[in-house]
Amino acid sequence: MWDGMASSQERILRVNCSRDRTMIQLIRGFKDILPGEVETWQHIENVARALFQDFGFKEIRIPIMERTELFARSIGEDTDIVEKEMYTFPDRKGDLITLRPEATASICRSYVQHKMYAEDPIQKFYTIGPMFRRERPQKGRYRQFYQINVEIFGVLSALADAVLIFLLKTLCERLGVADVEAHVNSLGCPDCRPGFKNRLQTYIASVSQKICADCRRRKDRNPLRVLDCKVPDCRAAMADAPSILDCLCDICRHEFQLLQTTLDGLNVPYVLDKHLVRGLDYYTRATFEFQTRSLGAQSAVAGGGRYDKLVQLLGGPDTPATGFAIGFDRLAEIVQIQGPDLQRKPDLYIAAMGDKSRALAFGWICELGKQGFYAEMDFQDKSLKSQMKRAHRIRASHVLMVGENELRSGSVTLRNMSTKNQDDIPMDRLMEKLVKRLSAEKKPHKEM
Ligand code: HAM
Repeated sequence: MWDGMASSQERILRVNCSRDRTMIQLIRGFKDILPGEVETWQHIENVARALFQDFGFKEIRIPIMERTELFARSIGEDTDIVEKEMYTFPDRKGDLITLRPEATASICRSYVQHKMYAEDPIQKFYTIGPMFRRERPQKGRYRQFYQINVEIFGVLSALADAVLIFLLKTLCERLGVADVEAHVNSLGCPDCRPGFKNRLQTYIASVSQKICADCRRRKDRNPLRVLDCKVPDCRAAMADAPSILDCLCDICRHEFQLLQTTLDGLNVPYVLDKHLVRGLDYYTRATFEFQTRSLGAQSAVAGGGRYDKLVQLLGGPDTPATGFAIGFDRLAEIVQIQGPDLQRKPDLYIAAMGDKSRALAFGWICELGKQGFYAEMDFQDKSLKSQMKRAHRIRASHVLMVGENELRSGSVTLRNMSTKNQDDIPMDRLMEKLVKRLSAEKKPHKEM
């Protein structure tokens, strides 16, 4: 619990003064994304950015912290996220702020605050960044995780939902991810959802002995949450619950039909999942998830849907909107399972012996780097054997050897590490010759 600003400052001072030298570990549920893994993340990000730009989405960057009320009002007070998972604390003036658990509310806030609708009500955004939810950590579920969000404002047609689902499918294809399945449902609108809620409440009353305490508490105010509960007993009890698809009003039914025929026309396979509801309260009409079997319990790689009332709820004009968020960590895990080797290897390792050679080599690696070639060397005095060992370890494609003998003879030795061929290159206009040789032999490294 928060125990006041003064005492927290005292605690910080005490921690700083500590003479303890034990290793400091990561916070539970947080993680480092290390080199070796980070290349997969960069690859996904580059592929995603290129795709979104092809479809006319512009990047937006929103803050990591917002006023708590933004999330409470948007996501809904009876949701797991707002009830139990937000990192909320008072700032120095006592205002309640929250580390963002998702990005949609912030993007809406920004759309309204900057009156973006005045220029053109139709705006298409994407954003990539960390989110924070204090859930129980497990594989695929973290307390700091990353999302790739895509949102369309100002379009009240199921065609916008269809294009988002198509975009997600295309992204998976470009990343070589095959094991994903689109699930779609409609959550109706304020006209037809109350009727469904009544039917659902009657059903829940008939199974109330079998559901968890959270669901029993929420069943009156927010019965849809019971459909979303992950507790196995609740899932079993809700298996025969009524479907919202039987309660849709004419417009919602028409829009959901349009979504399905459009997806069929685009050859996007999907599962009609009549119990799919989402963990956030702002959704209306189309909702969808991309699920995988590759990640155990955390099967949702992406989720989204329409949220036609949120802009208005946040003080803006009546503006329909739809979007999705990909769980970046989960996507990276599946891409990595099938993982291409994306880490960049040195084009050249310069094994330099002696101060004079090392000084020359230093100039060469800087010049090569400037020209787009990755060259490595040891800055300290090391034996030729240990330098060759390192060149092997970091998988350099060529090694250039320079020492007393080479300086005397005026030529250096270049060794191709895969063919083992080596030849002597005169040192006059060396950079020019090296660039020519390395360009000819360089395998095009994957765009990072
Ligand atoms: P969400 O379903 O809460 O939706 O999250 C979207 C995705 O983020 C999930 O499908 C999952 O892949 C990933 N995710 C969620 N929580 C975690 C976690 N603790 N650890 C790792 N990954 C996680 C939203 O956030 C909505 N704002 C999506 C949206 C955008 N709807 C409309 N526009």
